[in-house]
Amino acid sequence: MAMQGHKKDEKWLAADDYALKHLQPPGSQLYDHIQYATKLAESKGLPSIAVSLLQGRFLMTQCQMIDAKHVLEVGTLGGISAIFMASAGPDVKVTTIEVDEHHKVVAEEAIKHAGLVDRIEVLLGAGVDVLPRVREEVESGQRPKFDFTFIDADKPNNLDYFNEALAMSRSRACIIVDNVVRGGLLADDSAAENPGVKGAREVIGAVGKDDRLLGTTVLQTVGEKGYDGFLVCIVR
Ligand code: DHB
Ligand code: MG
Repeated sequence: MAMQGHKKDEKWLAADDYALKHLQPPGSQLYDHIQYATKLAESKGLPSIAVSLLQGRFLMTQCQMIDAKHVLEVGTLGGISAIFMASAGPDVKVTTIEVDEHHKVVAEEAIKHAGLVDRIEVLLGAGVDVLPRVREEVESGQRPKFDFTFIDADKPNNLDYFNEALAMSRSRACIIVDNVVRGGLLADDSAAENPGVKGAREVIGAVGKDDRLLGTTVLQTVGEKGYDGFLVCIVR
């Protein structure tokens, strides 16, 4: 789905490149792991909708900020965001859910190349089916609660994924939802029936009324992926 207003701008691309040249230079281990994952996803025909590299670094630094050890992700795609989050520290474990079997195979190859097979688990299935199973494991004590969740899957189910993640989160956990600004369509009533906009509006509306949350914001983002934003929440 093309997102109106998401046109890339040379200035944004150049700023991403400039920052990355300093923060994640060629030759660094993470550069190599992400470069491999990016090229693999491209060669295997995955849609080019992965997080940008600076966005991936944002997720990684957020995990470091709250000392996350147990990370949940909905929407693995080619594994790029999972590799970033697992790279937050040597004892970070990521459980990531992917509905598309081909995407899962590609992600697992990238994860293997990154040496993260023991720390990233890819569960195959739709979030609406897999999350309740994961939640049962958390509730029965077979799995620890999550410190950090990144939701980046089919947008109409954002709120369902959010509620499942919240039910499995420890106090002061962070939950981030991708793609909630959508080139500004979030605030465009003529786009209210667009499934992506609907999914963004539903989760933002619900989060605004949810007493289980301590802190909430929307962080607008610009760069390699155009203009969009993250919904960022801290659990009470
Ligand atoms: C789309 C999905 C994403 O998660 C994203 O970050 C960008 C685009 C899409 O479905 O078009
Ligand atoms: Mg996304």
